[in-house]
Amino acid sequence: MSPIAASDLKAPPAITHNSSVQVVRSTNALPANLLNAARSTLTESFDAEKHVCFEAPGKIYKMEELGFPGRGISETAVSAPFPLFSQSAVAQMRKEVFSQRVLDECRFSSGFVKDTVRGMMPSRAPFTYDAWKSTEVLAAVSAVAGVDLVPVMDMEISAINISVNPTTVTDAEKAASNDRSAFAWHYDSYPFVCVTMLSDCTDMQGGETAVKTASGDIMKVRGPAMGTAVIMQGRYLNHAALKAFGGKERISQITSLRPRFPLAKDESVLTGVRPISNTSDLYTQWTQYRLENLEERIREKLKSERTRESFNRPFDLVATRSWFEENIAYFQATLKELQEVQS
Ligand SMILES: [Fe+2]
Repeated sequence: MSPIAASDLKAPPAITHNSSVQVVRSTNALPANLLNAARSTLTESFDAEKHVCFEAPGKIYKMEELGFPGRGISETAVSAPFPLFSQSAVAQMRKEVFSQRVLDECRFSSGFVKDTVRGMMPSRAPFTYDAWKSTEVLAAVSAVAGVDLVPVMDMEISAINISVNPTTVTDAEKAASNDRSAFAWHYDSYPFVCVTMLSDCTDMQGGETAVKTASGDIMKVRGPAMGTAVIMQGRYLNHAALKAFGGKERISQITSLRPRFPLAKDESVLTGVRPISNTSDLYTQWTQYRLENLEERIREKLKSERTRESFNRPFDLVATRSWFEENIAYFQATLKELQEVQS
């Protein structure tokens, strides 16, 4: 594997996977016993005391350790798995994912991810939404990420990748498939991702995340077990999920996160999610979040300009030109993502 040029280490990586803009629905049949078990759970409202069981991870790999000092929005690269949600929280989330309404309205497929549920929104998945909007969960993931984070948009609460494997895999097949990716190498569209496991992984092997370091080495990070999560700065790390064996199913919850502070660097794009999203919802939420950030940026700038004038300080041409250039670039980055989609 060839090393990455030093000049490229601080630039946001270009994303090339999933470049198709055609939206495709997934129609794979799911086992009745899986659906029945998930749907038989009694509905509960989210209660942080009962449903959050956060403990800090044993290890957080830093961007510097991987050869990327200064890249991205925080020093955290990727974490070891850490407890986040209780078993009862996982049962509530599974009930929402496998409801008929969610399966009918929110399932997508692409060359990159075969079976995914996206855009459940609060109306279809109130428990999942309340969990990911809660102070407790966001404080937990922000502590691991080393930066204050919020979900990128409501429709990123959450994407669910579904892999059901009813057949037994032999040792020979396992060996032949060793290190093969369940998902191709890629960069994520959003700065941070939290992957939470919604399946029992007791009999599962593999399922690690492989991450490429700046020197070209591949580092493997253990995948999460039921209720536990990993955090990764996926926008800035080339990574792949390795195949998992031995379990009947692997249901992972992917929640994408961005900085809470509107003036922070935010190099989010929609490349990876556009073909697996309801376009109208995606573009509506993208436009609103970008405008909210711009609104705050402009308010801050106006405030500092008025303060400067009231103190009779001279106009700073260089700084003001730089502010406009930075925010024109933010407008352009926002516009670039609003592309025609075939459906
Ligand atoms: Fe990813």
